[in-house]
Amino acid sequence: MKKESTKLDAATIRQYEKDHVLYPWAAQKDVNPIVVDKAKGCCFWDTDGKEYLDFSSMFVFSNLGHSDDRVKEAVLKQAEKLQAISVSFATEPKAKLAKLIADLTPGDITKTYFCASGSEANEGAIKIARLVTGRQKIISRFRSYHGSTYGAMGLSNDFRNWAAEPAIPSTVHCLDPYCYRCPFGATYPNCDVQCAKHVEDVIRFEGGAKRVAAFIGEPVIGSNGIIVPPDGYWPKVREICNKYDILLIDDEVMAGWGRTGKWFAIEHWGVDPDIICTAKGVTSGYIPLGTTSVNKKVAALIDDIPYIHGHTYSGHALAMAAGIATIEAYQEDDLIENSAKLGDYLLEKAKELMDKHPCIGDVRGKGLFVGVELVKNRKTKEPIHDPYIEGLRPPTAKVKVLAEAMKNGVYCLPGIASVLMLAPPLCVTKEQIDFAIEVFDKALVIADAEVE
Ligand SMILES: Cc1ncc(COP(=O)(O)O)c(C=O)c1O
Repeated sequence: MKKESTKLDAATIRQYEKDHVLYPWAAQKDVNPIVVDKAKGCCFWDTDGKEYLDFSSMFVFSNLGHSDDRVKEAVLKQAEKLQAISVSFATEPKAKLAKLIADLTPGDITKTYFCASGSEANEGAIKIARLVTGRQKIISRFRSYHGSTYGAMGLSNDFRNWAAEPAIPSTVHCLDPYCYRCPFGATYPNCDVQCAKHVEDVIRFEGGAKRVAAFIGEPVIGSNGIIVPPDGYWPKVREICNKYDILLIDDEVMAGWGRTGKWFAIEHWGVDPDIICTAKGVTSGYIPLGTTSVNKKVAALIDDIPYIHGHTYSGHALAMAAGIATIEAYQEDDLIENSAKLGDYLLEKAKELMDKHPCIGDVRGKGLFVGVELVKNRKTKEPIHDPYIEGLRPPTAKVKVLAEAMKNGVYCLPGIASVLMLAPPLCVTKEQIDFAIEVFDKALVIADAEVE
């Protein structure tokens, strides 16, 4: 056994990990990771010095890009003074970050509970919703991912749920605002936004204001296929929630912090949620952080009832410092604007690929959050694989396309659905987008060959 301080070569690192690390969402025998040495901006390098363009922001968290000196320095400066202190005490970085979040989030979001991940942020939201309404039921959607802990997983729905079933009680799913595969067989804009009206039906069948505490949704559905709802969906859902006095929980864990070209994706539709959950982009992953933020109405309701919830590392000073520095860097570099501007460019370039590749059924997105849906047949829209039936990522053409892109220096997240998720850091350049599109243009030939 080598001493911990001994430098390990790539083969040993890989072997130690294979022997001693449990990898998520994978049969362990299939794990054979690339050993990463360093990362900077939109790129990372393996131990052989090969460069990869990060076209996924890892798990869509590296919104700022890798190794930003401003965040590193802020964390180091904080570490010199105070690293962690009980959340029962007030600290300058916690106060500052909570105020920043209150200032930047839409509507009258005012108070934030800090945790360490998106799953925990949503757990907090479920508890708050149940606590302040005194009701149990939470409505979510079929194509959704809200996290891997039991409560958040119960609200989600794809193969990642299977191992966690049965879900926590009183979670109810409804159909998705998915225009490309409209569950109502309708076409926008002549559909009267049936997908939003359906939410009202489900709320009514589930007991309305007597039984339902909240509706939760990703403003733009992320890992289940980058699905942008039609205009009118969110305003209608807000109206329905008001009508039945139900809380609207906006899960911005993936879509928030500039990803879609606005600070928070729900702002595209001018809707003010009651609770906003974030993680990922709030610190761009420099230090893990999750946030559950409530509006004034909800905050007032928790004034008199104890908020029975907590974590040891809530408000960790290093995470707070990382959050402040990340947000300030977004502002300093105009990265939210860059996401909107270069997102339009990426969408246009990805749409151009449709002309050449019959395997592409649909291209959609907002900001630097673009989905390229792969199908076996454009007419029937049969997906390359169906994650809701087939489960864990079968070795389909999509996986082969991603492997080919990786070989040629572009890393892209597999996601869950039959969709390529294009989501580079918000500091990506036009030239980097052009390079990635060129690589995908070549790799997509593999999926074209399977078109029926
Ligand atoms: C929309 C959404 N919510 C929640 C989560 C869970 O976040 P975490 O993995 O940090 O627990 C994710 C993770 O990808 C997500 O995309």
